[in-house]
Amino acid sequence: MRLYTNKASPFARKVRVLVREAGLTRAVEEIEMAVSPVSPNETLARDNPLIKIPALTTDDGTSLYDSPVICEYLDAQHAGRRFFPSGDARYVALRRQALADGMLDAAVLCRYESAVRPEQYRWKDWIEGQKRKIFTALDALEGEASTFGDAFDIGHIAIACALGYFDFRFPD
Ligand code: BEZ
Repeated sequence: MRLYTNKASPFARKVRVLVREAGLTRAVEEIEMAVSPVSPNETLARDNPLIKIPALTTDDGTSLYDSPVICEYLDAQHAGRRFFPSGDARYVALRRQALADGMLDAAVLCRYESAVRPEQYRWKDWIEGQKRKIFTALDALEGEASTFGDAFDIGHIAIACALGYFDFRFPD
């Protein structure tokens, strides 16, 4: 399998963590790729028409995206313990993944706004609106963190990758 990735991408990081936790490093070739919202990557566009990282090409040539779909597919490709639980726990794990990915959507928009968008077009209130989403989501997570126990599933991986991205891009 071929995984298009970028070391700065928190969504690609979630997939890369799952690849390692699931013991799939030999089955997945990671291809580092430059991405920018303003200069489309033609190679990536062939595998993901949304021109976004991560994208996975399976051994039979099927293209998969986005990160939740890739993670669930990879979780079905190994014989070890599952990172997508079954039963009621599945929906808790998927919701946590959605919460973490949603925080990351807002954080990446903030990052692009300050690092990519020309200064004269930046909109402070809009950035504050994105940050508010992150803070309310973090408060919700804080409220349920005591229930995490020893479990380790896709929800926890996604949350760890989100917190890591905040430290990486927003250390202040
Ligand atoms: C970043 O450089 O922060 C970044 C790169 C790829 C995807 C998302 C964010």
